[in-house]
Amino acid sequence: MIALGSDHGGFYLKQELMKHLEERGLEYTDYGTYSDASCDYPVYGKAVAHAVADGECEKGIIICGTGIGISISANKVPGVRAALCGDCFSAEMTRLHNDANILALGARVVGPGLAIKIVDTFLDTPFSGDERHVRRIKQIED
Ligand code: RB5
Repeated sequence: MIALGSDHGGFYLKQELMKHLEERGLEYTDYGTYSDASCDYPVYGKAVAHAVADGECEKGIIICGTGIGISISANKVPGVRAALCGDCFSAEMTRLHNDANILALGARVVGPGLAIKIVDTFLDTPFSGDERHVRRIKQIED
């Protein structure tokens, strides 16, 4: 199960991503927001972060205008490693090296075509499991 969340800035990109996930046969839960009315990104970043940290969802995708505010908010929740990615290389590396469990996107930064490629790369790349990366991830939590 994938947790989705956005503020108003990410609302329309989230609709595109929901369509894409459905086409791929992937299940998701939408934690809001549910319209393009102005709202506060920490509410939705933290809702997705708790869903992932509590084990309700394996991964999350969060979107705001830049992806910055919502990723900062999600990363306040222990156990969350939210990575803001604007390219596929970063999305691949953050899975391989950081075992990122939430992808953050900026809807005013990347278009829907690139965003979908970034999402697929993020979802389809496993954590490397290399000892040095496990050690460094543990140091983040210490
Ligand atoms: C909302 O206007 C905007 O500030 C928000 O979507 C995000 O970019 C914050 O980091």
